[in-house]
Amino acid sequence: MLILAIETSCDETACAVIQNGTTILSSIVASSHEMHEKYGGIVPEVAARKQLEYILPTLSETLEQAKLSLTDIDAIAVTVGPGLIGSLLVGVETAKSIAVITGKPIIPINHVLAHMYANYLSHKKISFPAISLVVSGGHTELYLVKNEKELLWLGGTIDDAAGEAFDKSGRLMGFGNGGGLAIQQAAERAKPNIIKTMTRLPRPMLDRDNYLNFSFSGLKTAIWREWNKLNDASEDIRNAFAYEVQETIVDILVKKTMRALEQHQASSILLSGGVAANTRLRQKLQAALMMHNEDIKLYVPPVPLCTDNAAYIGSYAYFRGTNTPWENVTAVPDLEVEVNN
Ligand code: KG4
Ligand code: ZN
Repeated sequence: MLILAIETSCDETACAVIQNGTTILSSIVASSHEMHEKYGGIVPEVAARKQLEYILPTLSETLEQAKLSLTDIDAIAVTVGPGLIGSLLVGVETAKSIAVITGKPIIPINHVLAHMYANYLSHKKISFPAISLVVSGGHTELYLVKNEKELLWLGGTIDDAAGEAFDKSGRLMGFGNGGGLAIQQAAERAKPNIIKTMTRLPRPMLDRDNYLNFSFSGLKTAIWREWNKLNDASEDIRNAFAYEVQETIVDILVKKTMRALEQHQASSILLSGGVAANTRLRQKLQAALMMHNEDIKLYVPPVPLCTDNAAYIGSYAYFRGTNTPWENVTAVPDLEVEVNN
């Protein structure tokens, strides 16, 4: 089965052709990142205008790369939410136009749930049940994955997402819109003797009622307060502070994921979302697993499949999607991610 997938939920414009949910025939991502650098963050209006400009060239290049035409495609998968309304509409209306013209079915996709399917594109066999941590710029969610089709939401952030904590800290520390990657790179340059002098940031774990939920807003305040104490920080201090910020966010993510694993006696962990690109998170999660039980597998997609793209949209569509008449497909900016089926 050949699925043409379209993803425009935030500032990326992405298309892909996926075969049988696991093979990428082509995948292209166009980003308006540089434009946002100029404005100091994502401006929804600017993102949507750029996406309108990029969508058709991206679509045509994706088909060309796969050496296919629209008539060869079996269905069109498109992200309908969650995301920015103007951005979502670009993808949704494009998908609907293709459906009307070709008569092919549409498969509406939940962007957050789809993230974890990046693992189905990069690993041949997943061992179930799995705990899935989807950690991106807008979400930090834990799921129990019973098989390719069945998901149970276990918990999520009650305030900011982990990626947001990275992004806001990065801006505060003068890394512009470099986000988590800029913090990771600075942390890699940090000197051990300076790291030792840093104040330890709080690692909020919440109480038992919020056992598998996350909270990053208190940490954000602590980061702001500690950073302001280090006025006129040298590069060494900035790198060491970046190290502490990264360690704190990663520790919270690892701790909760391990809790979920123990509670549900899962046999693997699926990591996904933009923050899954973080090398320290991958390392620390792997180390925690080794300590816990060497037989439990950690699945992590390659970096280009962690950040937003359309390939995992196509994979999700194959395993969990439902063909829907184009008249019933609409963009839903606040689409629910707390699923139980
Ligand atoms: O999944 P994604 O591309 O978009 C959303 O759906 O939000 O995730 C973007 C997030 C941003 O917060 C970005 O700072 C973070 O992923 N990110 C990273 C790294 N690369 C991207 N965070 C930590 N370390 C990285 N290497
Ligand atoms: Zn995403």
